[in-house]
Amino acid sequence: MCTTCENLVDPKQIKLDEVIIKYRDENGPLIPILQEAQEIYGYLPADVLKHISKGLRMPLARIYGVVTFYSQFRLTPVGRNLINVCLGTACHVRGGAKVLETIEKGLKLKDGETTEDKRYTLEIVACIGACGLAPVMSINGQVYGRLEPESVPEILAKYE
Ligand code: FES
Repeated sequence: MCTTCENLVDPKQIKLDEVIIKYRDENGPLIPILQEAQEIYGYLPADVLKHISKGLRMPLARIYGVVTFYSQFRLTPVGRNLINVCLGTACHVRGGAKVLETIEKGLKLKDGETTEDKRYTLEIVACIGACGLAPVMSINGQVYGRLEPESVPEILAKYE
């Protein structure tokens, strides 16, 4: 085993430490730290939560309580393509549920799940700020509006 490698510091952990230091003396530091940690890692691995627990001197159980309470936090990694289907009021009224059903059936996925090949993760969201284009979904931040369920498979096929 390479002894030098043991001394390498994980750049993600350096960033995480910077985030912890930035917020730890503020009121209610946990949520912004978790949000930024999730941006760094893409989700919140157990080791990261332990590291935050140590950094804040906060019980790990309390951190898990917050992570599991808010749907914005993920404890498992997302697939290569994150599909957000909007079921906010405007999208719901204009057929968002049909769009969702098409994706669920086509990919055999439910909200929060990832395909076995890690190609797609599906998440239902409340509004992505494009209500005028309802019903709407986004894939990796690219917004698709005025969706018809029939057009969904063709859009999904673009994402490897
Ligand atoms: S309700 Fe769907 S984008 Fe606003």
